[in-house]
Amino acid sequence: MEKTKICWVLFSIMLAIGDASKILVVYPLPSRSHANLGDGIVRNMLKAGHEVTYITPYEYKNAPSALRQIDVSSLLDLLPKDLMTLKSLMEGKNMSLHALFMSYMMTEMSKAMIQNENVQKILSDPNEKFDLVIAEWMMSEIPAGFAAVYDCPLIWISSVEIHWMLLQYIDQPSNPAFTVDIMSPYTPPLNFIQRASELWTQIKHMVLNYLILDRIQDYVYSSYLAPFVEQRGRKAPTLHELRYNVSMIFSNAYVDTSSALSLPQNHKYIGGYHIDEKVKPLPEDLQKLMDGAKNGVIYFSMGSNLKSADMPDELKASLVKMFGSLKYTVLWKFEEVLPNLPSNLHIIKWAPQQSILAHPNLRVFITHGGLLSTTEAVHFGVPIIGIPVFGDQFVNVHRAEIRGFARKVDLSYTMTDELKKTILEVVDDKRYAEKAKELAVIHHDRPVKPGDELIHWVNHVLRTRGAPHLRSPALGVPFYQKMFLDLAVVLTIVLTLSYILLKRAWRYYRSGKSKSSKKNN
Ligand SMILES: *[C@@H]1O[C@H](CO)[C@@H](O)[C@H](O)[C@H]1NC(C)=O
Ligand SMILES: *[C@@H]1O[C@H](CO)[C@@H](O)[C@H](O)[C@H]1NC(C)=O
Repeated sequence: MEKTKICWVLFSIMLAIGDASKILVVYPLPSRSHANLGDGIVRNMLKAGHEVTYITPYEYKNAPSALRQIDVSSLLDLLPKDLMTLKSLMEGKNMSLHALFMSYMMTEMSKAMIQNENVQKILSDPNEKFDLVIAEWMMSEIPAGFAAVYDCPLIWISSVEIHWMLLQYIDQPSNPAFTVDIMSPYTPPLNFIQRASELWTQIKHMVLNYLILDRIQDYVYSSYLAPFVEQRGRKAPTLHELRYNVSMIFSNAYVDTSSALSLPQNHKYIGGYHIDEKVKPLPEDLQKLMDGAKNGVIYFSMGSNLKSADMPDELKASLVKMFGSLKYTVLWKFEEVLPNLPSNLHIIKWAPQQSILAHPNLRVFITHGGLLSTTEAVHFGVPIIGIPVFGDQFVNVHRAEIRGFARKVDLSYTMTDELKKTILEVVDDKRYAEKAKELAVIHHDRPVKPGDELIHWVNHVLRTRGAPHLRSPALGVPFYQKMFLDLAVVLTIVLTLSYILLKRAWRYYRSGKSKSSKKNN
């Protein structure tokens, strides 16, 4: 009797926890597209009724009272200024792609975030409490230290499809025979050379991490975060322990465009969660323009990181001329007003991208192929022309091509003719649009919407104090046991011994025989 009562009380407490918890969302990367993903997490957590503290370099607009923002805009100064301008990329400076450089930069970024005075305030205040930390994993596990400071569960968000570097922390690295690295230019199925190269990439990273990168991270964690754990009277775990103590990983992807891997129970796909379920209405002028576009609309935007204004003048001029020669209405998101525009070309400084993509008259979306843009294209069933510029954009566009709803155009000073040819092909050939619609069906045909999936599992982690029951049994098993190397050693010893014994026995038998045959003679 007493026992059931206690159980009942505990159960009610557990339910109550799910209602309003304090959640720390860590999204320090000074990049607008990453911040859009962070905003999406915050929006969903607020919708679920939680109290959110949000570490972000950008302001969350119209913040409600349940949201507290920790401003880390100081991190914006850390990015090398010419890292991502179109001009430097067209001239072949491809520096952002080197994984070692990326990891190092992300470690520096994590350190700068911790040292930011606003973050220092919440770290050093002993009354500051959180029930959960949700952080973006971006080549650095240092943010896991926040979960140690507040002694609460940790959830990682992967801004791209789940990959071996993250899987190793909740299950085991995925097999490079049929999965690729985040930076890989290949798409499975892999041929012999590609498979060998993927295996090499994985081994190279593991060795580099073990020898260098993990050590730098361990150092940053133990010098800048661990003291705050001790300040709260607990022994600080090592970063190594924290790495393997993740409750759940959400990846901003879905099987519509990513490969259908077999994955552990504590990984969930939430791709598309950043898109508002209700599409905001277009501004009046755009609505009129798109409604009245008899031949359809082409939307051209190179995203928020790349300023089209860095484009060389001759390319701008030839693009204007080319767009003017089309019978379609063209919307170009661009930061500067160009002179002498043809009547069908409209330059807009700010574009409500999702609302434009939702318009039925839109025929094709010309994009750099960032994951947010490609996800939105699939969400609204629009074919794309990808002009990838850096990072995962090459992979995204390549995948979209393989799925049949995209074409790729290489970025160059002289890409205009090819772009025109590709536009005409994609608009005239119905298969691209049909394929995009088909993927949209796959994208939307799930038991729950991605935002609700996110909320459900966050609450589940909160209710069950870190959801330890979802962890993969592979996690604690060392490599040699998984590969049965110990068994191989035992079998080798047994076989060798048996061989030696048998050989001896045979020799003994032979010598016995020869002796007895001598005697008989
Ligand atoms: C940048 O790197 C990608 C992938 O390694 C490559 O495909 C692309 O051509 C490079 N771009 C330039 C401008 O060098
Ligand atoms: C691992 O995470 C759980 C919560 O999910 C926490 O209670 C526990 O203390 C953590 N362990 C270490 C070593 O950090």
